Amino acid sequence: MKVVMVLYPGGETARQHPEVLGAAENALGLRGFLESAGHELVVLTEKERALDEVLPSTEVLVTTPFWPAYVTAERLARAPKLRLVLTAGVGSDHVDLAAAAARNVTVAEITGSNVVSVAEHTIMQILTLVRNYLPAYQQVIDGKWDIAEAASRAHDLEGKTVGIVGAGRIGQRVASRLKPFDVRVLYYDFRRLSTVEEEVLGIRYALLDRMLPECDVVTVHCPLTPETDGLFSRERLARMKKGAWLVNTARGKIVQTQPLVHALESGHLAGYAGDVWYPQPAPPDHPWRHMPHHALTVHVSGTSLEAQRRYADGIHDCLERYFAGRSLERDYLIVEGGKVVNPSYSYAFAH
Ligand code: NAI
Repeated sequence: MKVVMVLYPGGETARQHPEVLGAAENALGLRGFLESAGHELVVLTEKERALDEVLPSTEVLVTTPFWPAYVTAERLARAPKLRLVLTAGVGSDHVDLAAAAARNVTVAEITGSNVVSVAEHTIMQILTLVRNYLPAYQQVIDGKWDIAEAASRAHDLEGKTVGIVGAGRIGQRVASRLKPFDVRVLYYDFRRLSTVEEEVLGIRYALLDRMLPECDVVTVHCPLTPETDGLFSRERLARMKKGAWLVNTARGKIVQTQPLVHALESGHLAGYAGDVWYPQPAPPDHPWRHMPHHALTVHVSGTSLEAQRRYADGIHDCLERYFAGRSLERDYLIVEGGKVVNPSYSYAFAH
């Protein structure tokens, strides 16, 4: 059976560090497992032409959100043997889910594998923005000592209102990690949590457009779907409180590119952070690289070494089950039997 993996190029670093499992050179640590079982493994970093060449004979395709191979309807149409598309990580928006369902291709991701990693990165980035960390650090590198300049944009997080958009696995972990900071936390999700869950997390439900004007910090944790694509438009960014900070570790396309640049340049927003972009990798002239008051990173939050181990193990489990003709872990399934079955995605595809 032909298994194709499209993973990020790790170069010399990955060759010296086999624990960087998500890099193409290390093939999720699964080369031995696959080849000893007689399967053909093709590992690509080039996700356009090279992928198109192998797709017609591919049965299983492993992709990753960190270096997304965009599995469009056209690509699926050129892959008659394709039965299974696995995401090494969480978030399968780079796959056209409706087209996969129409072709009866199963799509699965490694649910939960990196949710703690993203929640920790989110807390770090909220503090980075609110405390004005990067400009203060830059002064150290530049040989400066201008306390007034660094302090003029530095605040305490305590007492602020934080809004969480999407209170799933990551959103809830962010909420629980915010507790010791003594903040007021609101959340919006199209599925409201139970009263007990809200009580335990210390969060209150609000509709999105009611919540935004109240929040000093907004953090985004919903998947990218047809409904959340461009959710933070010019109008919605304008609804946010003046001087608020926005953090997005979900998907780049949830925030519209130019309206965000404008909101930062005009001073309406005080800062933006996150690690997700569109497209990925972001080209050197992507406008977000050069806008003011940002603390963006490359897409790394969900790929700490611990997260890589967990999603590599998850892919291993999926492949073992698939080869043995057994069903995959229920929680991992996004598309199965011609339908979008994951509750976080299915609402957006039901109408
Ligand atoms: P999850 O499925 O546990 O939670 C997602 C939540 O978003 C659910 O509660 C769902 O009801 C809600 N949601 C869906 N559509 C919505 C909408 N239109 N409006 C409001 N809420 C909506 O997923 P999890 O594990 O929390 O991950 C969330 C997203 O974070 C992933 O889909 C992925 O895009 C992103 N992610 C990013 C990573 C990174 O490295 N930066 C790594 C892992 C995930």
